[in-house]
Amino acid sequence: MRQQSLSLLFSLILFFLHCTKTLGQSPAAAPVMPPPATPVKAPPTAPSQAPSAQVATSPGPVDVIKILQKAGHFTLFVRLMQATTEDTELNKELNKTNNGITIFAPSDSAFSSLKAGFLNSLNDEDKTELVKFHVLPAFIPSSQFQTVSNPVRTQAGTGPRVTLNVTTTGNFVNITTGLTNTSISGTVYTDNQLAIYQIEKVLFPLDIFAPKPPAPAPAPAPELGKPRKAAPDVESPTAPKDISGALTPLILHNNALLLAVSCMVAAIFS
Ligand SMILES: *[C@@H]1O[C@H](CO)[C@@H](O)[C@H](O)[C@H]1NC(C)=O
Ligand SMILES: *[C@@H]1O[C@H](CO)[C@@H](O)[C@H](O)[C@H]1NC(C)=O
Ligand SMILES: *[C@@H]1O[C@H](CO)[C@@H](O)[C@H](O)[C@H]1NC(C)=O
Ligand SMILES: *[C@@H]1O[C@H](CO)[C@@H](O)[C@H](O)[C@H]1NC(C)=O
Repeated sequence: MRQQSLSLLFSLILFFLHCTKTLGQSPAAAPVMPPPATPVKAPPTAPSQAPSAQVATSPGPVDVIKILQKAGHFTLFVRLMQATTEDTELNKELNKTNNGITIFAPSDSAFSSLKAGFLNSLNDEDKTELVKFHVLPAFIPSSQFQTVSNPVRTQAGTGPRVTLNVTTTGNFVNITTGLTNTSISGTVYTDNQLAIYQIEKVLFPLDIFAPKPPAPAPAPAPELGKPRKAAPDVESPTAPKDISGALTPLILHNNALLLAVSCMVAAIFS
């Protein structure tokens, strides 16, 4: 009887050690864990290399980045597209679209006329939106600018805050966003589904730049078509989730410890 208790005790200790070992391993290895949330964060921070490499090896019909690089003076726009992985998005889009794509590509001088550090002051979400704002989900040959119906939808979405107007006066094709006025200064590329036009200003969408006056009012009445502002709030729950995920093994561990100890106590006193 005594021996049986002892061997039971040893098994319990072994069991306990096993638990400690298993549960002490990295949270990702524990089977109870939901898939780790960290990879979601990866694309915005470590972007340009992998996606552009994929594009380079893919047999896609057109590659926006290659076209812009060949043109030579869109280095900063290219960099921004790669940093936001919008380059891959665009090439994918081009591969499946029926309506084609039009891009207003700001030249390097357009970017260099911005305040120093301006782009760095934008968060990843705004950078992505800024790129998308320069892309229209339709092919517009230059002959059609006269008849385009305003406001024009961009890849940044619909609604007055992410659309722009295109008008023609004389030989000018003018673009206005409500914040930026500029004109098309040349055609970089065109086929029957992709048009890239050069512009000399970075187009500012109202959506990013209008609601942020210097005074950070807590409730500046942003009800008008501002559902996107929910995005930062959507992201924040993932952080607490991460933490709770990391804590789960500890809790399990404590439960196992409790169980093992009570079993040992029971065994000793049986
Ligand atoms: C384009 O789409 C086809 C299928 O629709 C796919 O097989 C091909 O890999 C795609 N190419 C690119 C460059 O994405
Ligand atoms: C269009 O742009 C040109 C040059 O940028 C400017 O002179 C003209 O006034 C603009 N037209 C309108 C209607 O804004
Ligand atoms: C764009 O055009 C629409 C329709 O003509 C007009 O209501 C809107 O005020 C214009 N927006 C800008 C920024 O010019
Ligand atoms: C853009 O042009 C419109 C009319 O063409 C003018 O009313 C507006 O003030 C201009 N905006 C900027 C920021 O230059």
